[in-house]
Amino acid sequence: MTYDRRRRALLKGLSLIPLVGCLPQEASPNPVPDSSPHPDLQLRRKIPSTGEPIPCLGLGTYRAFSRLDSEETTSALREVLTLFSKWGGRVIDTSPMYANAESVLGTLLPQAPSPESGWFLATKVWTNGQSAGESQMKSSSERIGASPLDLVQIHNLRDWKTHLPTLRRLKGEGKIRYIGLTTWGGHDHARMLEAMKSKDIDFIQVSYNIFNRKIEDQILPVAQELGLAVLANRPFEQGRLFSKVEGRDIPEWARSELKISSWAQFFLKFLLADERVTAVIPATSKPRHLVDNMRAGLGPLPDAELRTRMVSYLEQI
Ligand SMILES: NC(=O)c1ccc[n+]([C@@H]2O[C@H](COP(=O)([O-])OP(=O)(O)OC[C@H]3O[C@@H](n4cnc5c(N)ncnc54)[C@H](OP(=O)(O)O)[C@@H]3O)[C@@H](O)[C@H]2O)c1
Repeated sequence: MTYDRRRRALLKGLSLIPLVGCLPQEASPNPVPDSSPHPDLQLRRKIPSTGEPIPCLGLGTYRAFSRLDSEETTSALREVLTLFSKWGGRVIDTSPMYANAESVLGTLLPQAPSPESGWFLATKVWTNGQSAGESQMKSSSERIGASPLDLVQIHNLRDWKTHLPTLRRLKGEGKIRYIGLTTWGGHDHARMLEAMKSKDIDFIQVSYNIFNRKIEDQILPVAQELGLAVLANRPFEQGRLFSKVEGRDIPEWARSELKISSWAQFFLKFLLADERVTAVIPATSKPRHLVDNMRAGLGPLPDAELRTRMVSYLEQI
C-alpha cells in the first residue's frame, strides 16, 4: 500500500484541527515558535512533461537523514517531516548512496502527516550494470515503502546509457512515474547535456547556488528548451554559504523588499526567482531550519535587477 493511502485516514483526523498553531510542540526537543501557514500559500511550479504541479521547496536527505542513532535524532527528524508537510512540502530527494536515508524515510514517513496531494518521493540509481540497477531500484522502493516511486534519477550519470532503457521499461510498467538525471558541484556538464537530450527524460537535478551559477550558461537554457523539470541541489553548498556570511546581518533592503528574516531565505529566494528551476531541495536535520527554509517559498521573489544586487552584495564581502 502507498503512503498516501495509508495516511489518508490519519489526514481525515488532522483536517479537523485548525492549521494555525497545531504543531506538536510538546513533543519537540527543539521547539519551533512559528505557527504553520496554510500549505496552499507555498510556491508551486509544473513538471513540464505532464503539467503536474509540485511545491518549489523540497527536502534533501544527504547526511541529514543518514541514520536514526538516538531518540533525539529520531524525534527531530520526525518533526522535520511533520513540519515539512504542514508547510506545504511534498518533494523529498534521497539516494541509496546516502547511508540509511531511504530506510530512515521508510520508518518515519508513516508517522508524519501526509501532504494533501501525497508525498513526491525521489530516489536514484547508483551502480553499474542492468541487473544491479534494477535490483537496487526494487530495494529502494521496498526500503522507502513507496510504489510506484515518483522519480528515479541516474545518480551522477553513473552508467546512464545502461540504466535509461530499464527506467523507460519500469515507467511503462507503472513502477516509476518520472525519469531523471543528476550531477553535482558543476561537474560533468558536457555529459549531462548529452544525456538530457535523450528521449523520455522528465527531470534533471544539478547544483545551483548564489555562488555557483555555472548551470545558467547552458544547462538551464537547454532544460527549458527541452521541457525538463529542474531540481536545484546543494542550495547552501552543503552549508558552506553560511560560513561566508558569518557574523553579518542580511542587508536591510533585502529584508524589506523580499520580506525575509534569514540568510537561508536570501539564498533560497535567489534560486526560486529563476522560473526555470522547478524546485530547490535544501537538506536539514533541524526543525527550526526546516521552518526557516520553508518561509522562502512565501512572499515576493527578487526580479532580475534585485538578483544582480544580491550577487554583487555577496561578491563584495
Ligand atoms: N548528485 C546528486 O544527486 C546530489 C548531489 C548533492 C546533493 N544532492 C541532493 O541535494 C540535497 C541538498 O544538498 P546538500 O545536502 O549537499 O547541501 P545543502 O542543502 O546545500 O546544505 C545542507 C546543510 O545546510 C544546513 N542548513 C540547512 N538549512 C539551514 C538553515 N536554515 N540555516 C542554517 N543551516 C542550514 C544543514 O545543516 P542542519 O542539518 O544543521 O540544518 C546542512 O549542513 C542533498 O541532501 C541531496 O538530497 C544530490
